[in-house]
Amino acid sequence: MNHFELKGGELHAEDVPLARIAAAVGTPVYVYSTATLRRHYAVLRDAFAAHPALGTPLIAYAVKASPNVEVLRVLVDMGAGADTVSEGEIRRALAAGAPPERIVFSGVGKTRAEIAFALKTGVAEVNVESEAELEAVAAVAQELGVRAPIAFRVNPDVEAGGHAKIATGKAENKFGVSFAQAADLYARASNNPHLNPVGVACHIGSQITDLAPMRAAFLKMRGLVEDLRAGGLKVERLDLGGGLGVPYFHQPDPPSPADYATMIADVVGGLEVQLAFEPGRVIAANAGVLLSEVIHVNARPEGGRRFLVLDAAMNDLIRPAMYDAFHDIRPVKPRPGEAVPYDVVGPVCETGDTFAKQRDLPPLEGGDLVAFMTAGAYGAAMASEYNTRPLAPEVLVEGARFAVIRQRPTYEEIIGRDRLDDWVS
Ligand code: LLP
Repeated sequence: MNHFELKGGELHAEDVPLARIAAAVGTPVYVYSTATLRRHYAVLRDAFAAHPALGTPLIAYAVKASPNVEVLRVLVDMGAGADTVSEGEIRRALAAGAPPERIVFSGVGKTRAEIAFALKTGVAEVNVESEAELEAVAAVAQELGVRAPIAFRVNPDVEAGGHAKIATGKAENKFGVSFAQAADLYARASNNPHLNPVGVACHIGSQITDLAPMRAAFLKMRGLVEDLRAGGLKVERLDLGGGLGVPYFHQPDPPSPADYATMIADVVGGLEVQLAFEPGRVIAANAGVLLSEVIHVNARPEGGRRFLVLDAAMNDLIRPAMYDAFHDIRPVKPRPGEAVPYDVVGPVCETGDTFAKQRDLPPLEGGDLVAFMTAGAYGAAMASEYNTRPLAPEVLVEGARFAVIRQRPTYEEIIGRDRLDDWVS
């Protein structure tokens, strides 16, 4: 459920008409609903809480999904931790007030500088993804004179379904150590005075709409915890990653957080571990929309093709171009009249800058506003300035008020970052 609804014939974010935000801030612009963010976090938290056997898991929101500090702050204020994959994301989590002991640091290629930053910050765990990285973490910890809390990210080698570009849990994917390596590396780490192995982690992919692959992966993780313990090793934490899918309108309905929690209780309940989760999309996706204005309609006389040319483009929302993702497109003030098929495109000079083909939409004209739904996760987060188009600003709504939480950069700021050096001229 989200808080983007028609009221009086006009799409609102909570109690704010989207048209008012467009008028005040311009388009394209990302708009987030505080109430939806809070609701999604609470639904997940309560789903876990319904199973006492799960204890009180750490819900480490995956910062990459929607990294604005004000978005993070809404979640951190509710008790969320942060799953981070770069020094930048750790800095964002800290800026939002996340306690270091609720920050998880993941990623296949952490630099030594980033590892040092994480250890000095005092993060809950560095998720080690390879033997090479284990050595790097040990060396950095030794240099700093600290004992690094680590978890091994294990690749469970399961097929998660969904788009190949976001599957992470197969042996052919770059993520994590193999099951075969895990026990040996864990034992080795336990004997290193600079390492404190606290547990194991996995994350098999994103936009997963079937619990079966997750169950298979988590069963393997349970087995691993039991094997490690049987070998006399201490395993305190089990991080089961993120990946729960959201409804993108045309897709199979994903399992509910309640079903997800029930499955987890069934598989790992009673294992006596501190559980951690890294949800991103399930919290942020339906909490945000990308608001855009129609520049004009290019109706070809021959063939009947009708292009709806927007002021948003693939640089603002890359998901359709990159993953063939479907985003529902809703007129902000739907006009009466029969829906007609449009090819919905942006102004960028690539054919791939197409949001939808032959999408039935109510009649639209230049100057009308449309909203891309379910754009709160991996929307603004993946935006670029391709074609020297300024990054879309971000707006946070709470009830009847809204605030710009990231400004649209000026052209002076964008161009001023380039170095204008003497020798070039
Ligand atoms: N933990 C780790 C280690 C991850 O790599 C990810 C996402 C998450 C947690 C959060 O997954 P979520 O709950 O959001 O599914 N850009 C793609 C999605 C990439 C996901 C990358 N990793 C998209 O737009 O669909």
